[in-house]
Amino acid sequence: MDAELKERARGEIIKARGLVALTGAGISAESGVPTFRGREGLWRSYSPEELATPEAFARNPTLIWEWYQWRRSLIDKVSPNAGHRALAHLEEVAADFILITQNVDGLHQLAGSRNVLELHGNIWRSRCTGCGRIEEGRKVDIKIPPRCQECNQLLRPAVVWFGESLNTIFLDRAIQASRECDLMLVTGTSGVVQPAASLPFMAKEAGAVIIEVNPDLTPITPIADLSLRGGAAQILPEICG
Ligand code: OAD
Repeated sequence: MDAELKERARGEIIKARGLVALTGAGISAESGVPTFRGREGLWRSYSPEELATPEAFARNPTLIWEWYQWRRSLIDKVSPNAGHRALAHLEEVAADFILITQNVDGLHQLAGSRNVLELHGNIWRSRCTGCGRIEEGRKVDIKIPPRCQECNQLLRPAVVWFGESLNTIFLDRAIQASRECDLMLVTGTSGVVQPAASLPFMAKEAGAVIIEVNPDLTPITPIADLSLRGGAAQILPEICG
């Protein structure tokens, strides 16, 4: 890739005071977590839109838990990669930094990132569909579908599904950070799932520089000031160092 392009991206990142990093499944791809819309992301030929919905859970909670347990067992075995670590490093050196992620795998925190907004929740958290109690823990071997220890109703993954609203406090913080930042670094998202997909547009409208890191073109590419085509684990360490 063009060394000059990377040098320009590095310069913009060093210059920026308020930085937002927005990440999606692509940043964890090189750790071995399949993306949703890539070929390996398909599970038993279902698309995420068929599985990640409250209706699918109501219809067949066992199927949905099987999918989540498949993803949990994958995530349990992997480690953060150089891309996650580069963003953790950026947080150390930046004046003002927030990481907004659509990922539920927790790899950013394992890499050392602290100011992380998990817009879609965390895969290791479950919520009771009856009493709302939250259960946390890296549990891979559980009897599915699991039930609440307090009220015996079904537990569900505490993640945001299609058709559900995001936590409004998190979303408001993400919107505010996007409107106030000088630079948004967008990595590994296909930019098709709302409302996360709108955040780069809000940042751009408010005058921020947009840098995109992705091997493919996305709906965000046309508004990116700099587009770096390639994998996050290779590119991010070069531009965030
Ligand atoms: P997607 O699977 O839609 O997109 C992954 C993106 O990562 C694509 O644009 C790929 O080109 C890119 N990519 C692949 N390998 C990469 C690499 N090594 N480095 C950088 N980029 C790479 O994932 P998301 O955009 O995160 O939501 O999907 C958004 C949401 O849709 C997810 O949070 C999930 C899903 O359904 C819910 O479950 C609610």
